[in-house]
Amino acid sequence: MTGRAEFASWLEGTNDLTSRFVGSAGIADLVNVAGGLPDASLFPSDRLAEIAAEAIRTRPGVALGYAPTGGLPELREAIAARYRARGAAVDASNVLITASGTQALDLVGKVLIEPGRRIACDFPTYAGAMDAFRPREPRYQHVDLSRHDRLADALGKADLAYMIPNFSNPTGKLVDLPTRRALVEAVHATDTWLIEDDPYGALYYDGPALPGLLELSSRGTEAPYRGPVIHMGSLSKQLVPGLRVGWVIADPELIGKLSSAKQATDLCSNALSQLLTLAALEEGMIEEMHPKAIALYRERRTALAEAMERHISPWFDWEVPVGGMFFWARAKDRSLDVDRLVDAGMEHGVLVGPGNVFDPLGLSGPALRLNFTLNDAEKLDRGMARLAEALVAIGAGTGQQRAPAAAAV
Ligand SMILES: Cc1ncc(COP(=O)(O)O)c(C=O)c1O
Repeated sequence: MTGRAEFASWLEGTNDLTSRFVGSAGIADLVNVAGGLPDASLFPSDRLAEIAAEAIRTRPGVALGYAPTGGLPELREAIAARYRARGAAVDASNVLITASGTQALDLVGKVLIEPGRRIACDFPTYAGAMDAFRPREPRYQHVDLSRHDRLADALGKADLAYMIPNFSNPTGKLVDLPTRRALVEAVHATDTWLIEDDPYGALYYDGPALPGLLELSSRGTEAPYRGPVIHMGSLSKQLVPGLRVGWVIADPELIGKLSSAKQATDLCSNALSQLLTLAALEEGMIEEMHPKAIALYRERRTALAEAMERHISPWFDWEVPVGGMFFWARAKDRSLDVDRLVDAGMEHGVLVGPGNVFDPLGLSGPALRLNFTLNDAEKLDRGMARLAEALVAIGAGTGQQRAPAAAAV
């Protein structure tokens, strides 16, 4: 008798951050600084509830029916119009509505990645993207973004490049304008696709937004955009994650292929969520929430910087991020066992993100990803105090020298 079919082999490579994360949900009084979660007190829930009720009552066929696979045409146009206002030459044929950024990554994996294809990334990079691509069995190569003269060569050797230019997850790093220009120039000189994954672009704390890769790539052209950039946007960090609405903006031919892949994945995105998104865009809900989110998260960024300085500076170095949701704390002791520290942190009541899941090539040394948007200052302080206790408990070393204090914000 033959046994049941074994689970697919790609599952062996998955990281356990998500399961740790889910497992932690039931632990009372745990301070969770591992996730990339917004503060729910910012959500415009009353207004969204009214719009949802009205949409179901007055447009039940649309709100509760199947939507077109590519997304509601009005929403595709509204998204295109927002990007046109920023200077991107795009129209509705460039836009695919997805079940948020995660589905966009999954669909691109389905359409563009065959086993062994090469993906160029600036490591460490988003573990969720690697999880989405994993069933397609790609290979990864690191791109050094500081070497502008070598970018075309590096991208030319890859089939696809994946970048998070705005406040990367996990590092919080912002790619500067000269590097953006160099990246776009390099990708135009090759046959490579370039993903610009941009969920955090609105979360700017210290200055105006920089032009995106899509804008730079489409400058001087007419809509529809037919270039190599595949832009991914999401409502998750700028309004609410629970609606699960995101979008891909790309060459219409690729949008067509992604639509075919989406058809086999979920037929269409949730129509009610799309109507809510459309109303949110039309009413300016994102613009209304934006200053409140920026003020709250900026304050919490300072609070976490101060708590890190108070409690964990003997063990870690970091830069204060200018946007996004994360600090990237690098261990001074290169032999620190991060997995052991994460487990010890759980025992002491704090959940932190292990850096190794974002760095499969092992380029950056032991590190932690720490989120500052979900918890208030008092909880952030408690979390860092507990992390220090966990560091002491595992006998973590402090490296050779004390690094200078983090810059104040
Ligand atoms: C870089 C990056 N891309 C994509 C996503 C996916 O988010 P969502 O599926 O909620 O849009 C995230 C979520 O944290 C992220 O950090």
